[in-house]
Amino acid sequence: MEYTVMIPAAGSGKRMGAGMNKLFLELSNKPILVHTLLVFEQDPACAGIIIAVKREEKPQIQAMIEQFGVTKIKALVDGGEERQQSVAACLQAYDKDDIVLVHDAARPFIRRHVIGALVETAARAGAAIAGVRTKDTMKLAPEGTVEKTVDREGLWIIQTPQAFRYGILKAASDQAAAAGFLGTDESMLVERIGHPVKIVESTYDNIKMTTKEDLLFGEVLLKQSGGLER
Ligand code: C5P
Repeated sequence: MEYTVMIPAAGSGKRMGAGMNKLFLELSNKPILVHTLLVFEQDPACAGIIIAVKREEKPQIQAMIEQFGVTKIKALVDGGEERQQSVAACLQAYDKDDIVLVHDAARPFIRRHVIGALVETAARAGAAIAGVRTKDTMKLAPEGTVEKTVDREGLWIIQTPQAFRYGILKAASDQAAAAGFLGTDESMLVERIGHPVKIVESTYDNIKMTTKEDLLFGEVLLKQSGGLER
């Protein structure tokens, strides 16, 4: 089943401490952003890519798109101050009521079978997000002292992609913007309008490149058996 992917890539990546957009850092001689774009370029079910970028980085990103032969870009839109606004700008550039995925540019290791399961589930249920079960014991300690141990049964760590029927996500995004509500993922916006969201089990290596240690892990992932099984 076909889908279109919205990729917010307009962050600054301060926690990486690279002094530039972390998405331009290279893993095995390709920028992180290009690794992510190529996952979707190479997935036959992906009909198009809409990407949000910082206006001043547009020329550099356009050059990367050409250099690495990414042909599925349907729109390159201006990102916003917050990730949610960057995604809203992508949604603005689309209008078909079919399945859309939102995926962080900083997660290049997403597997194709997870994407497929998300699309199928969203087509059936309207909303589906990638996650993994927590492996560690979880404690609630807002002030640094344990208040309680949280039962980890049923707790999930949520990633992207997150897949939705376009109309549901657009309505959720518009209503959040009107109310000045800022969520940490798209699912929160959809939950907020009362729509159920399904979780699809993903893989632990679908990490978000955030700090320098993630770059080391990323190199290892790419080297294992000459690349990833997508
Ligand atoms: O900073 P963080 O890694 O959480 O950002 C997740 C994704 O959202 C990244 O791909 C980043 O480029 C993007 N983003 C964005 N616009 C912002 C902030 C982040 O597109 N204002």
